[in-house]
Amino acid sequence: MSSTGAEGEAAAYLRRPFALTSLPKRATLRATALGVMEARLNGTVVGDEVLAPGWTSYRHRLVVAEHDVTDALVLGENVLAAIVGEGWALGRLGWENKRNHYTTRPALFAELVLEYGDRTEIIGSDATFRAGTGGTRDNSIYDGETFDARLEQAGWDVAGFDDSSWEGVEVVEWPLEALTDSPAEPIRRVEILPPVEILTTPSGKTVVDFGQNLSGRVRFTVTAEAGTVITLRHAEVMTGGEIDVETLRTAKATDRFISAGGTRTWEPRFTFHGFRYVELDGWPGEVDPTTISAVVTHSDMRRTGWLETSDPLLNQLHSNAVWSMRDNFVGVPTDCPQRDERLGWTGDINAFAPTAAFLYDVRGVLRSWLQDLAVEQKATGFVPWVVPDVLSTPSSPTALWSDVAVSLPWALYREYGDRAILENSYESMTSFIRQVEGLLDGDGLWSSGFQYGDWLDPDAPDDNPAGGKTDRHLVASAYLCKTTREMADTARVLGHDQDAAEFAALAERVRAAFRREYVTEKGRVAGETVTGYSLAIAFGILDDEQRAHAGDLLARLVAKAGYRISTGFAGTPLVTDALSSTGHLEEAYLLLMETGCPSFLYPVTMGATTIWERWDSVRPDGTINPSGMTSLNHYALGAVVDWMHRTIGGLSALEPGYTHMRIAPQVGGGLTSASLRHTTVAGDVEVSWQRDGQSMTLIAMVPDGATAEVVLPSHPDGETHEVGGGTHRWTYEIPAAAGGSYDLDSTLKEIADDPAAWREFFGAFSAHFPGVPLDGNAPEAAFMTVSTMLEYVPGASDELRDDLAAALARASEGASA
Ligand code: BGC
Repeated sequence: MSSTGAEGEAAAYLRRPFALTSLPKRATLRATALGVMEARLNGTVVGDEVLAPGWTSYRHRLVVAEHDVTDALVLGENVLAAIVGEGWALGRLGWENKRNHYTTRPALFAELVLEYGDRTEIIGSDATFRAGTGGTRDNSIYDGETFDARLEQAGWDVAGFDDSSWEGVEVVEWPLEALTDSPAEPIRRVEILPPVEILTTPSGKTVVDFGQNLSGRVRFTVTAEAGTVITLRHAEVMTGGEIDVETLRTAKATDRFISAGGTRTWEPRFTFHGFRYVELDGWPGEVDPTTISAVVTHSDMRRTGWLETSDPLLNQLHSNAVWSMRDNFVGVPTDCPQRDERLGWTGDINAFAPTAAFLYDVRGVLRSWLQDLAVEQKATGFVPWVVPDVLSTPSSPTALWSDVAVSLPWALYREYGDRAILENSYESMTSFIRQVEGLLDGDGLWSSGFQYGDWLDPDAPDDNPAGGKTDRHLVASAYLCKTTREMADTARVLGHDQDAAEFAALAERVRAAFRREYVTEKGRVAGETVTGYSLAIAFGILDDEQRAHAGDLLARLVAKAGYRISTGFAGTPLVTDALSSTGHLEEAYLLLMETGCPSFLYPVTMGATTIWERWDSVRPDGTINPSGMTSLNHYALGAVVDWMHRTIGGLSALEPGYTHMRIAPQVGGGLTSASLRHTTVAGDVEVSWQRDGQSMTLIAMVPDGATAEVVLPSHPDGETHEVGGGTHRWTYEIPAAAGGSYDLDSTLKEIADDPAAWREFFGAFSAHFPGVPLDGNAPEAAFMTVSTMLEYVPGASDELRDDLAAALARASEGASA
């Protein structure tokens, strides 16, 4: 065929007629493509997957799908056909605007295996295929698809079609050993969403709102005159009443349908978009909402985790994490589904993996992805920052990104208890750790080389997301404390005793070096950042006394920031844990439930339906942050949802695979109930608790064969029970919360000691003096009353005094409730 892989080329239509004089007992089609494909047999689409074969490291692993097509065959002439578009193999990938990462020609591999009982015949993808084109014109994952119905050749995929004007094909050489099956579920149409509203914008455009930021495409039915062009522009957000495509960067995300006259239903075949809104141009007449829908398209994984609480904002935050996960598991775990990227960024899935493994059965997609990581690492000697690797330069080892090679298999092992996951990744894990060991300085620290650090710390400069407050080499060495320990544990689980001893010694060496360099004897962590403390606490770097002190210092820092978030990709998954595990549960809840910008719930208050890349991707005035890294659909910062599962829902695995689990909800944040469900490999677990005044009820359902340590939430004596399979229920009285009473004569320290009161107080202060810090733990705070403080605040108004008094009154009421 004459296609050259250039931009904007029409999809290849391929057909091969063959005759059958008897019908086989069984017929199987095995097919894949360089590009994306849709196979057909006698005019019927084979299988229900879309965007096949998905995206893998094609040169090493090209996934072949198998379909039983026995019933599609007929006696006489049959036609095996396929449409092949550019997909990931030919199309542009990455922000560097490069295409043809894998090949310059689209290619089809098909094997129709006909089993007659006494013999097997194979109809293969050889030079007898004929190639033409049809309605599917330019087709790009980033830019969208054009379908010209006038160019679709009737009957091209069934018997009797005259293909004499079509071209011959050439056989493409590709390593056959790359052909493989895959543990991953295929990409499918998973859900259909109707519009929630059809809008006319100030400029007169028609925009369909699907109410949810999603990954997929639009399907519609339209009656239009021949030649009518309907254009669909997709967007995540609207600003000033119009769709705003700023978050797409250069991705055009535009589909076009050109009518051949009459009525037709259409949905693009070889693209997907990340969108909530679609602007329609050229639609004849009014849009009937029943004729248009969004087709949610992603890897068809099984849902395994749910959490619901009494707080609607938290429920929306949870839903946003679930949707961001769905939207970013399109064959590969990606950073985002909408802009000119959609790459398998390692740091993003590393941060989000425990959350992902709770919400869905990710064994298929992530084991496939880890295979790609391992083969690429073996071929190049480094763990690529994106897998499959399409970057133009080699990746250097970095914490949180490259060390996914260790932490992801470990997270999957913890969730599923399957040692094979560790076995399969063992070589990749060990070679990564040994590579980093070779980079350590004389002290045992990872102190050189590029690092992403606490990526997208809200205080990092807009043009330098890696330039956060926390020293990036502190971040690197802290993560290495974690991964060396995971490595030692992996070796131990697999019975590699010598390796286990080697890695345990390395872990201790790095930990000791970290403590010498970054931690004072009492437990203060260098740089005094929320992320620095969170890493040191969560990764077990400190001893008990240091840990307690560090927890107190962290709680103060978090309070001083008024419970606004101050962490990026590295610190965010850990900060709530670091607080709640050092006796600061209330502060963890205050941080979780803060709504001001930046915070976990700020995007929710701005109408977000997915997790944003930046804490302020949309700024409080409704404009898009112009920094360029402002996707509205990045799951990494949604990693806090894992803490919600373990702390609000209260479920964590004590043994890999939940054969022994802990059920210990920790109540706070004014929540009155929560219910959690999780389908584990040991069986279904359910936990629900409800607070009714001073009465608490906990119900725990534990699968047969598993055991649970149950810690009754808010129980006056901290009662704990060991239970086996079955449903268990406890109801008991809990003590009334003790709390203070505050007014303008309270000292700053008294208020700061009560995190909820401090939050009210600081919120009122910040409304007058945004961004001005107030330290309730400074030495003078012990004797300085609010009234005295006001004397020192230049420009303090009566209004400020009144607002602070009102805030303190509210805090006193809250405490007595
Ligand atoms: C991606 C991130 C990624 C980062 C690292 C970004 O463009 O969207 O999520 O981890 O680059 O450089």
